[in-house]
Amino acid sequence: MDRNLALEFVRVTEAAALAVSPWIGRGKENEADHAAVEAMRKSFDSIKFSGTIVIGEGERDEAPMLYIGEKIGSAEGRVEGPRIDIACDPLEGTSITAMGRSEALSVIAAAEDGNFLHAPDTYMDKLAVGPQAKGSIDITKSPTWNLQSVAKALKKSVSEMLVIVLDRPRHADLIAELRSSGARIRLIGDGDVSAGIATANAMSGVDILMGIGGAPEGVITAAALRCLGGDMQGVLKFRNDHERARAKKMGITDENKVYSAEELARGNVMFIATGITNGSYLEGVKVYGGHAHTHSIVMRSETGTTRELKSTHRLATKPGYGS
Ligand code: FBP
Repeated sequence: MDRNLALEFVRVTEAAALAVSPWIGRGKENEADHAAVEAMRKSFDSIKFSGTIVIGEGERDEAPMLYIGEKIGSAEGRVEGPRIDIACDPLEGTSITAMGRSEALSVIAAAEDGNFLHAPDTYMDKLAVGPQAKGSIDITKSPTWNLQSVAKALKKSVSEMLVIVLDRPRHADLIAELRSSGARIRLIGDGDVSAGIATANAMSGVDILMGIGGAPEGVITAAALRCLGGDMQGVLKFRNDHERARAKKMGITDENKVYSAEELARGNVMFIATGITNGSYLEGVKVYGGHAHTHSIVMRSETGTTRELKSTHRLATKPGYGS
């Protein structure tokens, strides 16, 4: 995969983040989401590559743009450019954004043709850790077992561990077990992609992501952790037979399969994200005097290089901004 593509894709996440920024805290989830999707879709077509959305806004009949199977890239790129699969979430953290809370991102993961798990729009049980704890997780074992194993790898006591969990009723047992083990917990309202990345950032203080969130977000998180040298395991969790049937159609036969990070996002992958609201890794969009600042990360698994990009945009040259 042409390494320069990663730097091209950052324009796409920047465009989506800029388009969302006027909607921060305005309580309008749909408008924020629509702004991000439209900006990302348009921006993809300025890049010379032959892209296919494998994870995006859903099935063709549910999403007008960035639907699974949609072809993207410039007209010339679609004929001559490299064939790349795209997993994207133009606005990861829709309600976070609508409420003006932290950790909303615009994100793209890219891989060569066929390398992402074609995850149906269902849930995934996830266990994610940073590089120091690579090889110490086993999602088939209990949360307590994993806490102890990761604590050992991190040379910490269990009481010094910080676990991130989505604050959902489905996690009542998990949270009770973590509490009785003595570990510290951060319950988040949304945004487990950002939480997964935080496990690989020593400064975040976060050691493990545990619990059930979106499956598409799971694939995107796996791509990020592959670039950062972290580790992840995921098991699909279907809510009903319709999702089960959809998964079967996509080639998923073993419901209980444990996917490693390498199985979720194979080969050389790229991960690109721009902060929308402030987070533990990325700053959110800041607007001042006709300009906006964005903060992004661009990473590639092949080299493990992480680049941070701070950009200043002149808003007069961004016609879609704030419309
Ligand atoms: P959206 O921004 O797409 O709404 O996703 C936010 C999110 O919190 C994800 O980070 C997470 O994986 C998923 O939703 C959890 O789903 P649910 O809200 O149904 O528990």
